[in-house]
Amino acid sequence: MTRKLFVTTALPYANAPFHVGHMMEYIQADIWVRTQRMQGHEVHFVCADDAHGAPIMIAAEKAGKTPQQFVAEIAAGRQQYLDGFQISFDNWHSTDGPENHQLAQDIYRALRKEGLIFVREIEQFFDPVKSMFLPDRYIKGECPKCGAKDQYGDSCEVCGAVYSPTELKNPYSALSGATPVLKKSEHHFFQLSSPRCIEFLQAWTNTPGRLQPEVLNKIKEWFTTDEDGAGGLADWDISRDAPYFGIEIPDAPGKYFYVWLDAPIGYLASLKNYFGKKRLDFDAFMDDPKVEQVHFIGKDITYFHTLFWPAMLHFSGRKVPNHVFVHGFLTVNGGEKMSKSRGTGISPLKYLELGLNPEWLRYYLAAKLNAKVEDVDFTPEDFMARVNSDLVGKYINIASRAAGFIAKRFGGRLTDAIAADGDALLLGLRAASAEVQRLYNERDYGKALREIMLLADRVNEYVDQNKPWELAKQPDSDARLQDVCSVCIEAFRLLTIYLKPVLPALAAKVEAFLQVAPLKFADADARLGAHAIGAYQHLMQRVDAKLLDALFEPPAAAAASAATASIEVDLPGGEALAQTITIEDFAKIDLRIARIVNAEHVEGSDKLLRLTLDVGEGRHRNVFSGIKSAYAPADLIGKLTVMVANLAPRKMKFGVSEGMVLAASHANEKAHPGIYVLEPVPGAQAGMRVR
Ligand code: MSP
Ligand code: ZN
Repeated sequence: MTRKLFVTTALPYANAPFHVGHMMEYIQADIWVRTQRMQGHEVHFVCADDAHGAPIMIAAEKAGKTPQQFVAEIAAGRQQYLDGFQISFDNWHSTDGPENHQLAQDIYRALRKEGLIFVREIEQFFDPVKSMFLPDRYIKGECPKCGAKDQYGDSCEVCGAVYSPTELKNPYSALSGATPVLKKSEHHFFQLSSPRCIEFLQAWTNTPGRLQPEVLNKIKEWFTTDEDGAGGLADWDISRDAPYFGIEIPDAPGKYFYVWLDAPIGYLASLKNYFGKKRLDFDAFMDDPKVEQVHFIGKDITYFHTLFWPAMLHFSGRKVPNHVFVHGFLTVNGGEKMSKSRGTGISPLKYLELGLNPEWLRYYLAAKLNAKVEDVDFTPEDFMARVNSDLVGKYINIASRAAGFIAKRFGGRLTDAIAADGDALLLGLRAASAEVQRLYNERDYGKALREIMLLADRVNEYVDQNKPWELAKQPDSDARLQDVCSVCIEAFRLLTIYLKPVLPALAAKVEAFLQVAPLKFADADARLGAHAIGAYQHLMQRVDAKLLDALFEPPAAAAASAATASIEVDLPGGEALAQTITIEDFAKIDLRIARIVNAEHVEGSDKLLRLTLDVGEGRHRNVFSGIKSAYAPADLIGKLTVMVANLAPRKMKFGVSEGMVLAASHANEKAHPGIYVLEPVPGAQAGMRVR
């Protein structure tokens, strides 16, 4: 029976380029999608940029752009990654597209009709300077538990306490530095706590096969209420007040949907946009009970996808997700956590630009993935080993060992006169097809690849036993040589079918070499017989350790090693120590801890950032600092640093600079780029003298 599948990956925030964690999610989903297509199923695989929300609005403002411009620029960079890593999305769209505005408002109206939307007045921090309500992460202050300074509005990084922003002591807005005021506003809520919702979600989540067991366990915790009835599912605040980059709530002027309401609706919007282009009937498709809706997501967004999203769909009378497949996080080099927005370790674009083969990464990640919500760790040594010894050493090798003889000795012709040992080998390989497909279907890719490599081992044993290179030297062994080499090529074809979901471009090269139509799983049951094949060209290189080193080299070091080499002077930091001074000389310099209240780009300057600093004087200082190349303004806001507080004010092209921020850099900045602003150990307070 052919399945009809609607498959998505999570919609990435349109505030940064992809990092390698995103690529892992796309590769995981893409392998599954390609498996389904190779099994003859109908698949529509879509994604989109998640364009809305306060962080994107604020980032756009800081960059001096409209949010629409800002997200359009991010969107323009997407395709090179998707093409580069062979992600076969049928469509890429945006949650700011017209389809999403329409669908989000339709779904909201349906939920309201169902009586699941209510309005309640809440009190929230408001930034009087920026004239906007502040999301929790833009409110900072002292931890109510341990008193640590500059903690975020939801939790303390020093003692781990969790609280609400209103509990912070001496709160300030991370956007303007102003003291926020409490202000009332009406918010719209989705009544997730209603018995109808809970009853539906209990049934939906517990449907066998829908969720991974560990995901279901987590959800059970979320459902649980304690003896006092506390805990359990809380109603969901789905509105935000203007200014907000999002979708207007119908009949509620100045109110917008919270980004997480319209984001998953973006799945439907992207499919609708695609169906529009293809002139297919979106409504008919979504009403077809045969259609299965499948979402691939990371573990951090499980709550949204297994509670809010199915409830929204169900109570607006729509198809609910059939599967939500949750994966763990990709870490680099032993669990080093990647920043969610920027990532670390490996840049996917640099990977491609250095000429590393994208299918190495696809193979490596597939080899490490399973159906559990486990984190996956990337280490260069492991990467080299898997690709070189398994993929190239075991699989590619088979073709290169047999193809030459077929070409030179038999004019490219295979034989169908196969002896019993070869037949038995091929029979065994064919018999594995069902199991390999099952493992891919279950997302147990690591196990699938281990099975396939065991099959490759068997083929290599067959080659070692029959030694075609010796047969080639013996008289009267032509028939046997052609037999053995034909078995190898047929075995290679079978292994290629099994690897094709992971290695689509390589499989295409093999199809050209074998002169066969695009391979599907059903082709494992057929045989090549006395078929003519094309000329063999080497299919895949081994990983060169130097390339991997370059991939992991921080950008500064990469530029340095390219630029300097021989002229390196052996001085600390590239310069000799300055002349000796006395303690009195030093005491003239008044260094103070300063809090970076705001940081922004300076129009017309490609070097400077404009910093607003607080050194506890009851007023703010304006300081221009030449650190634009090293920091995004958002990364600095709220941080403490050290400034020269008694430097004579200096008039610059862009205004008066009232001090100087301390930063470390190499004397030869061209060869050793990198500027590092000083930051005190936690506990220091703005205004303290540094001596
Ligand atoms: N915009 C939301 C999702 C909305 S879906 C309707 C979001 N965006 S994200 O860019 O932060 O993350 C997109 C996806 O990438 C999520 O599934 C997330 O779990 C995944 N990953 C983010 N960092 C990751 C790793 N380090 N490793 C693997 N996946 C990671 O959340
Ligand atoms: Zn604390």
